[in-house]
Amino acid sequence: MRDEDGFVKKYDSGVTRRGFLRNSTLAATYLSQASLWGNALALAPAAHSLAADAHDAETASDSEAAARIAWWRDAKFGLFMHWGVYSILGRGEWVQWKEQISVGEYAKLAAQFNPDHFDPDSWTAVAKSAGMKYCVLTARHHDGFALFDDPASDFTAMKSAAHHDFVADYVRAVRKAGLKVGLYYSPLDWRYPGFFFPDLYRPNAEELREQYHRQLNQLASNYGPLDIVWFDGGGEDWMGFGGVNFTSGKWQGRPRPEHYSGTFSWQDEQAIGNLRRLQPTVIINDRTDAVPDFHSREGDRAMGAFNNQQPWELCTTLSEGAWGYQAGAKVKSLDACIRLLVGAVGRDGNLLLNVGPHPDGQIDPEHAKRLSEVGDWLKQFGVSIYGTRGGPYLPGDFGVSTYRDKTIYLHILKPAGPVVSLPALPAKILNCSCLTGGSAACKQTSDGVAIRLSGNPDVTDTAVALTLESPAAQITPIATPIQEVKPG
Ligand code: GLC
Repeated sequence: MRDEDGFVKKYDSGVTRRGFLRNSTLAATYLSQASLWGNALALAPAAHSLAADAHDAETASDSEAAARIAWWRDAKFGLFMHWGVYSILGRGEWVQWKEQISVGEYAKLAAQFNPDHFDPDSWTAVAKSAGMKYCVLTARHHDGFALFDDPASDFTAMKSAAHHDFVADYVRAVRKAGLKVGLYYSPLDWRYPGFFFPDLYRPNAEELREQYHRQLNQLASNYGPLDIVWFDGGGEDWMGFGGVNFTSGKWQGRPRPEHYSGTFSWQDEQAIGNLRRLQPTVIINDRTDAVPDFHSREGDRAMGAFNNQQPWELCTTLSEGAWGYQAGAKVKSLDACIRLLVGAVGRDGNLLLNVGPHPDGQIDPEHAKRLSEVGDWLKQFGVSIYGTRGGPYLPGDFGVSTYRDKTIYLHILKPAGPVVSLPALPAKILNCSCLTGGSAACKQTSDGVAIRLSGNPDVTDTAVALTLESPAAQITPIATPIQEVKPG
């Protein structure tokens, strides 16, 4: 898959990792393509789904792995924030690259960076009003500007007009609010030619690596406990944006299945080993060459398949377009936001929803409003989200399901009519009720379960609770009908 900038994204291709990494083995992945996303095309489980989700294999399996990530699995919903000097220009966080602004010219933005409405307590208030349980802030994006104090770099918030360490305030505020603290960090830095040509400009690539190890160490050492370090742009296969090999006497784009074949290494064993030593409970995603705690899927269309074998998170934006502040970007509807959240949780994943605060530091009021509407929905129906797991009914035309203890929550997103028919359930249903308005009557036979909705079912998500005689976790995931639509 290519991203909006036309680069091949390694992350979607299921590449295996090099070096100290274990070989990728495909864990049992229950397949069910999104029937509710994009153009609402429903694809039957297909071979390509397996390939697309090959990267959902190999997450940490050490003795502490399950304990480290337990809170996150229950939390379900987090706030992503892309904020930096690019916010001043208001054309997204890739503005330097897209408009090919020279490094020298771009660096001048630091002299204008003086956010006078920076108030991280208001950020956490927005996150809490949305029912989010964790935050992830871009400590440093691909432009190289650090929101924290790195005395060895001249492109930091400490050396901007603000003369301030924003990461310090952010971390304090998030912790104070009782939310979990996450920092995004990009090893890649556009200021370094060595990123693009690591073999040709080896000393420069090594400087970049030195910066990565140093800054990661600073983040891990200077801000107290971190719950998440969210990497982007790391890993050897993404050097030069996953491209440019010198083969047959020419520079060429590297074909997708091939890996970086040069000799540069990010030395993630040291960098991430040090991070894990300093922050024993931190969890990390899969955008370095180290063994991750969870996988990242990116963008609404990457919702993908159900996977309850490997922790995963869909990250996407609240407004259409860029992740960093973009003036006038259209905000997604409440309906879309709820379906993203329910869709991810019903596939046994999390949702990390992004806002790009204004250059002055405030989260756009329209964004804050939409998020608090999501929070209002969660106040009523969060029982069917928080602390649940996806299944046992796999995503299908009806919608998705979640469960906790002896209750299954059906999230009926697209009722075909007043009666929703599902395959047989190997557990006795004791009770059936509709959480979201209207009523639900349930008929269970050895052939299946039929739910009759009446009254006024909710058009966004009709949540129906089925109380069982026995724990839902004992039920092996059950495929549900998906209309087959031939692509194209
Ligand atoms: C995309 C964007 C990048 C952003 C990332 C978050 O890759 O290009 O700027 O940080 O998504 O996952």
